[in-house]
Amino acid sequence: MLHDVGAGVAVVGCGSAVPAVALDNDGLSRVVETSDEWIASRTGIRERRIASGDECLRSLATTACQNALEMAGVDAADVDLILLATSTPDDLFGTAGQVQFALGATKAVAFDLTAACSGFVFGLVTAAQFIRTGAYRTVLLIGADVLSRWTDWGDRRTCILFGDGAGAVVLQATAEGDRLLGFELHSDGSLSGSLNLAFAGQARPLTDETTVTQGTFQPITMNGQEIYRFAVKRVPEVIEKALFRADIGVEQVDWLLLHQANQRILDAVGDRLGIPRDKIISNMATYGNTSAASIPLALDQWVRSGQIKPGDTIASAGFGAGLTWGAAIFQWK
Ligand code: ACO
Repeated sequence: MLHDVGAGVAVVGCGSAVPAVALDNDGLSRVVETSDEWIASRTGIRERRIASGDECLRSLATTACQNALEMAGVDAADVDLILLATSTPDDLFGTAGQVQFALGATKAVAFDLTAACSGFVFGLVTAAQFIRTGAYRTVLLIGADVLSRWTDWGDRRTCILFGDGAGAVVLQATAEGDRLLGFELHSDGSLSGSLNLAFAGQARPLTDETTVTQGTFQPITMNGQEIYRFAVKRVPEVIEKALFRADIGVEQVDWLLLHQANQRILDAVGDRLGIPRDKIISNMATYGNTSAASIPLALDQWVRSGQIKPGDTIASAGFGAGLTWGAAIFQWK
């Protein structure tokens, strides 16, 4: 069923969804000893959304996809592949299948992809390979996380950072030029201990010869200063490499769209690249760090408000646990 081998990739629609309930910094100050002033001055975050009631990863991801399909004018039944970038699935066996069913995307193969806060960029590059090889024509890529499930709400060094949300894009094969202009991806497992949502279990004998280890995942732990240093060094580097592969200069970038980890990181990366503040997309104040969702969520906001226009060049970069980091340079539509 290969068709259009060597086809270009076009991003033809986007959508997002966030939980209804917002928790602002003053509200958080009633959970841990902190203040709006401390959080806002160090991170840029004023509030974040927290999934409650029936809201879950599947429901947020499904709504984001429906909005993206509607913008793209694409029928769910025509989607070939659904990639769900997440670290917080409803089911460890994968949640993409539940999204496929909820959408009625009966033709699509669906699976989860885990690369923490780099998940959306890693997913974008993965999706592009299926399109360029001619295997698939239409791909739904979702970045979604419900980190509130795994946040240690007693740890003020981390719980102030995270929020829940979902974003999605529709990617299609096009004969009219490849809009994914360049990319670069990296991993360094030697630093994996600086940001974790790790399984911890206890061994117990099952038979005379066998033990089994059972337990659960433990709340997020992070060495904040190490992550900060990693991000401000590696992210500018990886964007420069992706720009080199795209054969364009930094002055041709219309928008810097980074994983929304922390306003200080966004500003430091922009400064190192010489990108002015008005080109740096940030919704840190309203959503905090939504992990794999942060890039498509911000993209959707900037597209729907008319700030990102067709033909604009976007330098996007994800970075986070693994450690993983990567950049993708693409044009909107
Ligand atoms: N409110 C008030 N005080 C606090 C809080 C808080 N929420 N958190 C920490 N403090 C206190 C600490 O107790 C400490 O006090 P002490 O010196 O008396 O012990 C002091 O503030 C400094 O604590 P640090 O942990 O050293 O805080 P730091 O200045 O490093 O700031 C922060 C923390 C904002 C997380 C910073 O390290 C950072 O920006 N790191 C980047 C990490 C990041 O953005 N991660 C996002 C998730 S990962 C990802 O998406 C890639």
